[in-house]
Amino acid sequence: MADASPMVIMEGVGKVYGNKIQTRVLWDINFRVERGEFAAIVGPSGSGKSTLLNLIGALDKPSEGEVRISGESLGTLDDEGLARLRRQYIGFIFQFHYLLPDFTALENVLMPFYVAHSAPTKREVEEAKELMERVGLKDRINNRATDLSGGQQQRVAIARALAGRKPLILADEPTGNLDTQTGSEIFRTMRDFNEQDGTTFLLVTHDPRFAEQTDRVISVVDGRIAEDRAVLHPSQ
Ligand SMILES: Nc1ncnc2c1ncn2[C@@H]1O[C@H](COP(=O)(O)OP(=O)(O)OP(=O)(O)O)[C@@H](O)[C@H]1O
Ligand SMILES: [Mg+2]
Repeated sequence: MADASPMVIMEGVGKVYGNKIQTRVLWDINFRVERGEFAAIVGPSGSGKSTLLNLIGALDKPSEGEVRISGESLGTLDDEGLARLRRQYIGFIFQFHYLLPDFTALENVLMPFYVAHSAPTKREVEEAKELMERVGLKDRINNRATDLSGGQQQRVAIARALAGRKPLILADEPTGNLDTQTGSEIFRTMRDFNEQDGTTFLLVTHDPRFAEQTDRVISVVDGRIAEDRAVLHPSQ
């Protein structure tokens, strides 16, 4: 039944940082993201985009309001429950890939499985290899992470985020550290997974070119949703 629920629901979500000195960074956030959407989150630096993504990813807790992932209300879960929910539903891609330098590309993709249960199963290894092929790194499987280019490392990070067939990928400036051409290729790779597998993506980006190639743009300004609009693609 949970699979019929929207991927993400935010209801009256707010966030205040600090105890003694309190800073409010998010006010009354309301939106939902359906399965299979590819949405951009845009807005000025410091507007609250990463905070928002961290709340959706259960990496941080809201000060008020409710976050639901695939119908599950995060407020009802303890830390173990939140960890289980992240493992089940959510993959993360960051500006810096955080690959483990002493491991091969394939081992990095398999890392979520090593963390979940000591050794990956045969099926998980097959899946990881298939993901490496789909991100265009079939012949780099056994390279150490540090022996890959920046763009290749980010491709490994995409494969790692997707490992375990995560239905929701949260990407915070994944192209922010890459040159224009490499950034475009990385964007295309994520879009392909969205179109071919129906994986839901929430992509924080400063680049309007990428935002306009998504299906929806959510603008955050001063901690509030300033605009939430569908992107029209003339070719469709
Ligand atoms: N752990 C924290 N404690 C206190 N304040 C924080 C914390 N994390 C972020 N902030 C503040 O919250 C506000 C929103 O930060 P956030 O990182 O969400 O912005 P952002 O939109 O992602 O910015 P950028 O585009 O620069 O990444 C900023 O004013 C920031 O200084
Ligand atoms: Mg940020």
